[in-house]
Amino acid sequence: KGNDIVVVGSLFMDLISYTERIPVPGETIVGTDFQTGYGGKGANQCVAASRLGTKCAFVGKLGNDVYGKQYYDNMVKEGVNVNYIKIEDKVPTGVASIIVGAADGQNIIVCVFGATGLVTPAFVEEAEPLIANSKVVVVQLEIAVESSFRALQLAKKHSVKSIFNVAPGVKDLPREMLSITDILCLNETEAEIVTGLSNIHDRESAESAIEKLRNEFQCQNSIIITLGSEGVLLWDSQTNRYHFVVAPKVQAVDCTGAGDCFVGTLAHCLAAATGDSDDHLINAVKQAVTNASDSVLRKGTQSSFPHKLIPSTQ
Ligand code: RIB
Ligand code: NA
Repeated sequence: KGNDIVVVGSLFMDLISYTERIPVPGETIVGTDFQTGYGGKGANQCVAASRLGTKCAFVGKLGNDVYGKQYYDNMVKEGVNVNYIKIEDKVPTGVASIIVGAADGQNIIVCVFGATGLVTPAFVEEAEPLIANSKVVVVQLEIAVESSFRALQLAKKHSVKSIFNVAPGVKDLPREMLSITDILCLNETEAEIVTGLSNIHDRESAESAIEKLRNEFQCQNSIIITLGSEGVLLWDSQTNRYHFVVAPKVQAVDCTGAGDCFVGTLAHCLAAATGDSDDHLINAVKQAVTNASDSVLRKGTQSSFPHKLIPSTQ
């Protein structure tokens, strides 16, 4: 019996410093707190979904070092199928240096891929049987573009639903990659990088980005643009309709990984949905907004993700 969700992507140890504000280049400031945690957008999305009760498998790589061993055990503890997590001998586990400012919980991040950089298209192909037997495949861009592309092609080949989270944003992606997926998901910055439009920050500007993706980039799939505390705009290609979901007002402590909590929850809801309904996608988006908004109330990345579907307060 297969796994419901397969995530192909990054496993990074997050090294998070908390500060009053984010320093400017050349400046040294004194932080208020520090914590390490399990991160990497791919793994975050997988853990977010696994905690909600779907059977998830991960395809990725760790180094043969202390972080790698801890991380492997963490994935096992989170209930994830680790058969396709490979330990590489000659490279370190990937890390992400993160600074979170106290004012609004926003962050800056530098990722160094390490072992995650060795997730090649050939390695992804080894996971074809896993992908073929799943309901939803999820990819991001913290591995080589061709490797994520390969995973999307394999999903298509086996008629498995796919979610392509274009994170972090990358310019000049192969056009086919944007249209081969069932659901394209971007935040405001990523939508700017991909479309070349500027100042995407609200419903109207997000709608112009989606129109550009549909008309110029020939995206016939569903498209989600997340707008942080503003909410989310969904273009549902099945019903040919826009939906705007307002995010609940919260006091954000740490937004790190909120986008991943969104994608993981979305994947969980889609894998769990049964029967034919036009509402599956919009319902999944609503739940994903609620769970992601909950995650910003706590410090850390995976450590802040909820273990259940949070009831909506709206
Ligand atoms: O999206 C948040 C994640 O981005 C962090 O966990 C960090 O590892 C970076 O990949
Ligand atoms: Na958080």
